Amino acid sequence: MALQKIQSLEDLNQIKEKTLPFLSLRLQNHSTVPAPYSHSIMVCAGTGCLSSNSQKVKDRLVEEIKNRKLQDKVEIVKTGCFGFCELGPVVVVHPQGYFYCRVQPEDVTELFDNHIAQGKPVQRLLYKNPSTGEVTEKMDDNKFFQPQTRVSLRNCGVINPEELKEYIARDGYYALAKALMEMTPEEVVQAITASELRGRGGAGFPSGKKWAFTASVQQEMKYVVCNADEGDPGAFMDRSILEGDPHSILEAMAIAAYAVGAKEGYIYVRAEYPVAVERLERAIEDALQTGLLGENILGTGFSFTVEIRLGAGAFVCGEETALLRSVTGQRGEPRSRPPYPAVSGLWEKPTLLNNVETYANIPQIILQGPAWFASMGTEGSKGTKIFSLAGKINNTGLIEVPMGTTLRTIVYDIGGGIPQGKSFKAIQTGGPSGGCLPTEHLDKPIDYDSLTEIGSMMGSGGLIVMDESDCMVDIARFYLEFTQDESCGKCTPCRIGTKRLLEIVTGITEGRGSLSDLDMLVELGHDIQEASLCGLGQTAPNPVLSTLEYFRDEYEAHIKEKRCPAGVCKALARHEIDLEKCISCSICTKHCPVQAISGERKIKPFTINPDICTNCGICVEKCPPKAILRR
Ligand SMILES: Cc1cc2nc3c(=O)[nH]c(=O)nc-3n(C[C@H](O)[C@H](O)[C@H](O)COP(=O)(O)O)c2cc1C
Ligand code: FES
Repeated sequence: MALQKIQSLEDLNQIKEKTLPFLSLRLQNHSTVPAPYSHSIMVCAGTGCLSSNSQKVKDRLVEEIKNRKLQDKVEIVKTGCFGFCELGPVVVVHPQGYFYCRVQPEDVTELFDNHIAQGKPVQRLLYKNPSTGEVTEKMDDNKFFQPQTRVSLRNCGVINPEELKEYIARDGYYALAKALMEMTPEEVVQAITASELRGRGGAGFPSGKKWAFTASVQQEMKYVVCNADEGDPGAFMDRSILEGDPHSILEAMAIAAYAVGAKEGYIYVRAEYPVAVERLERAIEDALQTGLLGENILGTGFSFTVEIRLGAGAFVCGEETALLRSVTGQRGEPRSRPPYPAVSGLWEKPTLLNNVETYANIPQIILQGPAWFASMGTEGSKGTKIFSLAGKINNTGLIEVPMGTTLRTIVYDIGGGIPQGKSFKAIQTGGPSGGCLPTEHLDKPIDYDSLTEIGSMMGSGGLIVMDESDCMVDIARFYLEFTQDESCGKCTPCRIGTKRLLEIVTGITEGRGSLSDLDMLVELGHDIQEASLCGLGQTAPNPVLSTLEYFRDEYEAHIKEKRCPAGVCKALARHEIDLEKCISCSICTKHCPVQAISGERKIKPFTINPDICTNCGICVEKCPPKAILRR
């Protein structure tokens, strides 16, 4: 059905007024408008939940509503990501936001019989704390959500991302209207500068400065680009915003285009994000149909269009100069700067390039004012930041917290601590080119500068927790392997330097290291940082340098004692049987592929001959009383 044209503020107001009641149950205490339904059932349709079959759950919910003739009483809403993807499919039932996890199609009847019909939440599907087993019924009471402040993710899990009117009901496109109708382009740039927003794509460059720089270049043709390449393994903050709130990015890009004097925009998004691409396409189509993109937006004379370009999944294509080349169909290789994209970007024209999360903040800054934004965060890093929390942690997921939140709050309060009672060893911040920080930094309020000071970086916001069973040398090897693989090869320090770093670290994990290797790693690492052409090479040595700084003893144990303290490095691992625990069952001998284990069944404890053992570890897995240790 064709959407009606939106040509004025009045049109926006009318849509908002008509739609708000439908959102009032979901907004919990924030809305006074009466709802037309008794319940809103929110079903997550983010990539995480879709891959755990949330579409089937949604289909069953729709069917059940029909069967029970509840169409006028209960609504089913498809939403973006709630952040707790590991527990998907996630279903939230309003009023009051009961948080259900791992809901299966078979659970739907019970959900209706108990929760909808009798107001009795289904206990077995509610969130259960993995450490204590304690059940938390509502989202608001859940410690994963409680310390969060959602600005960039404000609409994810609240609106249907495919319904433009729901975005408008949440003040969507009001910031664009305000910018176009009440502000000059200079005033918009000033507002972004005053908010002190820094780019969320990794480098943390002040956004206002970038906007002012692009605006000041005198050229007829300029472009606005959104970097949605998101190459960091495990990071999915940008994808979640695009999937859960695509219009916020279009609105922000239109505001940016007005501010810098551009008429065309491109979103560079990786092809592995089909749900994000589909929702973006739909949002662009709806915005064009209603006149929120295209010619003469809101009757102000301002025109702006957006196109999508798909990336093929190369990490280096997230680097801005490589990305801009890739948008124009050339090979995605970086070039040296200056000239910066603000002067010479797409087709050598002035180009403003920002990250998805950076853009997601823009409409709120315009609407609520720069002072509101700058009131959150730290001295040098304002606002909030989305982090993807992964690794050895109870609550993995996507979180948004004010800048300056400590790692301890993130790991222990929001993340729920380390599973199986193990102890925290390190946290890797900043993705593959970040650093690993030890326990002593857990109380550090984190922002761009504090992380750089301690040898790591913010990057796009990846946080990976490691526990006592992780080997820090092996971790450094793992990240070097990634950056070495992803190096485009254009500059020698990165192409050859990361290869040499990897060879040395691999040698150490295989027992072929010497102490002089450690000095070489530091020297070579600093050389690569200084001499590389782009950020990939400039940051690639971070994992090895930071683990050397904080976990040097582990490197030394590998070299001097030919021992991997965490028992991870296969070539150095030793397997031993705890004679007191051994029950002489002989199961280990049956599984050992090289007959390295001997003993007498039910008579004498078993032992491993280290000269024969290949450290395959099968015996550890199979031993019933867990008497075999890997050291
Ligand atoms: C190797 C490499 C990969 C990068 N990948 C991304 C990415 O996936 N997404 C992103 O927004 N920025 C990425 N960046 C940073 C961009 O080059 C650029 O700084 C950023 O998109 C600018 O937007 P911002 O100022 O809003 O952060 C990458 C940089 C490097 C060096
Ligand atoms: S995708 Fe459903 S909670 Fe993240």
